[in-house]
Amino acid sequence: MIQSIRGFRDILPGEVERWQHIEATASTLLQSFGFREIRIPVLEKTELFCRSIGEQTDIVEKEMYTFPDRKGDMLTLRPEATASVVRAYIQHKLFAANPVQKLYTIGPMFRRERPQKGRYRQFYQINAEVFGVSSPLMDAQIIFMLATLLGRLGIRDCTVHLNSLGCPACRPGFKAALAGLLTRHTGELCEDCRRRAERNPLRVLDCKVPGCRQALADAPSMVDHLCDACKEHFASVQNHLETLGVPYILDNRLVRGLDYYTRTTFEIQTGLLGAQSAVTGGGRYDGLVQALGGPEIPGIGFAIGLDRLVELHALVQEVSGVHPKVFFCALGNAAQRMASEWICRLAAEGIEAEMDLSDKSLKNQMKQADRSLAPLVVMIGENELAEGQAVIRDMASREQHKAPIAGLLDVLRNTGK
Ligand code: HAM
Repeated sequence: MIQSIRGFRDILPGEVERWQHIEATASTLLQSFGFREIRIPVLEKTELFCRSIGEQTDIVEKEMYTFPDRKGDMLTLRPEATASVVRAYIQHKLFAANPVQKLYTIGPMFRRERPQKGRYRQFYQINAEVFGVSSPLMDAQIIFMLATLLGRLGIRDCTVHLNSLGCPACRPGFKAALAGLLTRHTGELCEDCRRRAERNPLRVLDCKVPGCRQALADAPSMVDHLCDACKEHFASVQNHLETLGVPYILDNRLVRGLDYYTRTTFEIQTGLLGAQSAVTGGGRYDGLVQALGGPEIPGIGFAIGLDRLVELHALVQEVSGVHPKVFFCALGNAAQRMASEWICRLAAEGIEAEMDLSDKSLKNQMKQADRSLAPLVVMIGENELAEGQAVIRDMASREQHKAPIAGLLDVLRNTGK
């Protein structure tokens, strides 16, 4: 038997209703905040991700599904959506009419990480990006929007972690201070961090290995190195979050795993999902549009990890499954034809109905009706056809009554709506 690939999973009926509910709730809210949907390909030129996410990140170094296509062009299954949305924004000159664009997209991403609970190789994101706005009010607005989404979904026990990574003017000073500390503590760092210390020192800050944590206990903080403009920007973000009533904690270890960030970065974390605590990650990337060949236009965005949000939601909310409104138990050829026609007519009007088409006994059809969870069952056989009356059974009360076949569809239409 052929099984699915490790880290790739099926989302089955019964679970999928929860995904649909969350996606619909998020889409409605995003649209209320002025976001419009964009759909982008899952496959892109590898270079797009190397140039945006950064050559020296875990994602680009070891997690991408990259392969040559039949002509030898290097292609990559997208590990995230931001790079593609920025590419589309530039490629279609979406900035020409109005640089301010708010775009969202929902779909699968691919990273070859070690699979575990909450971490998959194909996972899903609700991804949103705002172009053309450098105001810190926008940073606070989108964090408020995320907090509102969690509230609408009934999810609590989440914390907004906030940091600023500065800009090309002030970050080098911070990096130099950090690099100095890392050199003094090389011996105490894990193997990964020793490598990171040389190539991407900021990433050492979010290493979870206790030895590294201890070695960095008095690491410098980016916020102490911010230039005046970045300091003012960050203060405004915090001030507006307070106005909007969104609680947050300042987290100077929050460096994120992608290199394009500038200034505000944030994550929404939860203690309810074990090691995979980040439900959402995002931040500003004011230089990315230009780095990918577009004009100098700022950007900010986030991605919600849908797999994790679904797991969180499952801890707090029931989502009712979908089931037919009526199940027809039809015995004999003529009755089956009639039931089949009714099912088609009802479905075309948006009312789901179901029947058995394999000539089962009435007893077995009733069992199937029970399993379908349809609240109503209609029974018709030769006798009922001859009489012109069908039997309608209310599955909750177990009461039965007869109804004329001629007016049956109307009766079902009215109860079905
Ligand atoms: P990210 O932090 O790499 O950011 O991913 C965002 C979220 O996707 C994470 O917080 C997590 O919930 C989920 N996620 C990531 N990897 C996995 C995985 N292997 N399995 C399950 N869930 C996962 C980005 O992707 C940025 N593009 C976000 C962004 C948009 N920044 C600006 N705009």
